[in-house]
Amino acid sequence: MKTDFLLNGTHRFTDKHPSTTLLDLIREEFNLHSVHPGCRKGHCGTCTVLLDDHLVASCLVPIFHLKGRKVETVEYLMESAEFRDIELGFLKAGFHPCKFCAGIKVLTAETILREWEHPKEADMALFVTKNWCACTSPGSFFSAVIASSEFRERRAHAHRR
Ligand code: FES
Ligand code: FES
Repeated sequence: MKTDFLLNGTHRFTDKHPSTTLLDLIREEFNLHSVHPGCRKGHCGTCTVLLDDHLVASCLVPIFHLKGRKVETVEYLMESAEFRDIELGFLKAGFHPCKFCAGIKVLTAETILREWEHPKEADMALFVTKNWCACTSPGSFFSAVIASSEFRERRAHAHRR
């Protein structure tokens, strides 16, 4: 059975077994290694991707659920100006996630910024459980996202001029 879907802006298909997880598909067939296997039970978040603009644990998604849907990984976001806002925001806030979780933290920040132009801590708290690690605090992540929102606003103003 063929499964068609949109991966990082390109139409793709696969004939892997329908029960293959999205995590294994995108790593093994499409070589996208920002998505890491961890617990494989939906708890650790290291395999997070955007599926139709929502953060999901790719280890829990069998590919028969993918037909016609849109998947984005951080590799795709890295080609955009939006990524630069987040990169600058994280730097300004002194927020430096490790390589293992940088992808999920960037995708989480982007999801928040798509939802709120000026995110508040209460808004962002909803996302922290998907993004938790013992080496960074939620507060440091919130500051990094707020700094990113400022860079995004500045860029939007410059664009309008
Ligand atoms: S590998 Fe841990 S949530 Fe997917
Ligand atoms: S797991 Fe990457 S900074 Fe904590």
